[in-house]
Amino acid sequence: MTEHGTIPTAPTGPAEPGALKEAIAAELAAARERSLAYTDADDDLLVRQHSPLMSPLVWDLAHVGNYEELWVLRAAAGITPLRPEIDDMYNAFKHPRRERPSLPLLGPDEARRYLATVRSRVLDVLDRFDPRDRRPLCADGFVFGLVIQHEHQHDETMLATLQLSGRPGIVRDDPTPPSRGRTKPDEVYIPAGVFTMGTSAAPWAYDNERPAHQIYLPGYWIDRYPVTNGEYAAFIADGGYRDPRLWHPEGWEWVQRTGTSAPLFWTWDGSSWWRTRFGRLEPVPEDEPVQHVCWYEADAYARWAGKRLPTEAEWEKACGGRTYPWGDRPPTGAEANLGHRAARPAPVGAFPEGASPYGVEQLIGDVWEWTDSWFRPYPGFVSFPYREYSEVFFGQTYRVLRGGSWATHPTVARTTFRNWDFPIRRQIFAGFRCARSED
Ligand SMILES: [Fe+2]
Repeated sequence: MTEHGTIPTAPTGPAEPGALKEAIAAELAAARERSLAYTDADDDLLVRQHSPLMSPLVWDLAHVGNYEELWVLRAAAGITPLRPEIDDMYNAFKHPRRERPSLPLLGPDEARRYLATVRSRVLDVLDRFDPRDRRPLCADGFVFGLVIQHEHQHDETMLATLQLSGRPGIVRDDPTPPSRGRTKPDEVYIPAGVFTMGTSAAPWAYDNERPAHQIYLPGYWIDRYPVTNGEYAAFIADGGYRDPRLWHPEGWEWVQRTGTSAPLFWTWDGSSWWRTRFGRLEPVPEDEPVQHVCWYEADAYARWAGKRLPTEAEWEKACGGRTYPWGDRPPTGAEANLGHRAARPAPVGAFPEGASPYGVEQLIGDVWEWTDSWFRPYPGFVSFPYREYSEVFFGQTYRVLRGGSWATHPTVARTTFRNWDFPIRRQIFAGFRCARSED
C-alpha cells in the first residue's frame, strides 16, 4: 500500500504539460491499486454491512467509479453517461450509510468491471487533456485531482470499515518506525502574530481550504506531540471517565448513555490494556498516539491535563505556513507516517525530520487531530465545484480534524487540508494534541 514516490502530488507551478499528465496517470493508478487491494476479499466481506456507521465495502468501490464517471467523463469531457441508472444508488446524499445495504448494489465483480470501464475512458480523456485548458474544472488538472483525492479518502474509509469488521488478513502488518525518543520540552510556544491560513495557490486544494486569509493569534503553547496511549491511560486510571467536571455536558451525557470507559477497540484484562487492530489482539503500546477517541474524549482529556484543544487556526499556524510542516517538498517517508506504510500510528519522536519550523512534530500523519473548531467557511468562501462537497456541512454540527492519519495518502495530507466529523465519532483514525493560552 506504499505509494510514496517522486511524483509531484499537487503540481505547484506551470508544470511541463507532459509531466503533469504523467503525474496524474501515476496518481490515478496508485489510488486504484489501493482500492482494489482493500477489496481483494471474498464477496461476503464486501457486501456485508459491518457497522451502521459504514457502507458495505462494495458500495464504496462502485461509488468511487461513479464519482469518476460523473466528474471526469460527464462534467469535464461531456461524455454520454455509461450507467445513468446507478447514479441515484451511489449518491451519498440520497442514501445515508445505514440504508445502503438494502439498495440493489452492483455485485463485487460487476463493480470491478464498471470501475475498469470508467477508468479506461478516463485515461483516454487524460490523453487528450490540454494542460493549458483554464476552465476552472480543468486548470492544473483539478478534476483529476478531485477524483484521485476522493478515491484515497474512500480508501481510508474502507480501512475504517475493515477495522470494524474485526477480520484479520486483509491488512498487512508493516514494521513501525522505531521511536527515537521524545524531544524536550513537551510544549512549544508559538508567539503572537499574524499568519496566513488556508490557500489560494495549491491547485488541487478543496473549496473549504480557500481562500488564503490573514489571522492574528495571541501567543499560545501547543504540545510537541499528539497525546499517547500511555498518557491517555493515566487519564483513565485517574477516573477521567467518571468525573463530570471534566466533560462537555453533551459528552457527559454520551459517556453515561453508552457506558464508555476507554477508547474504541480497547479492553482491560485486569492488569493492562489491550487493543484489537485489524482482527488481532495486542498490548496497547504506550508511546503511540492514542486513536479511536471522539471529540468529547479529547476535550475531557485536555481539561484533565489543565489544557484545551487547539483551534484549527492554532493547529495550522504551528505548521509554519508551508505545504507540509517540513517545507514544500512532498513526503519521502522520512518525515511522516502516511499512505498506509504501517497499519498503525508511529511512536512519538519517530519523525524529527518532519518537525515544523517551531519544532512541533507529527502534525501530518499518524492520527487525525481533533480541534476545538466547528467546520465553518473561511471569509470569501466560494463553493466549488458543488455545494455538497463542503458548504452543506458548515455550521455547529461537525468538528474539524487536521493533519491526516497513517491511513491518509500524501496527496490528501497538507497543512491546509480540513476534515470534519460528528463529535461522537470514534471509528476514524483520530487522536489529538493539546494546547493552552499564554499564562
Ligand atoms: Fe464520496
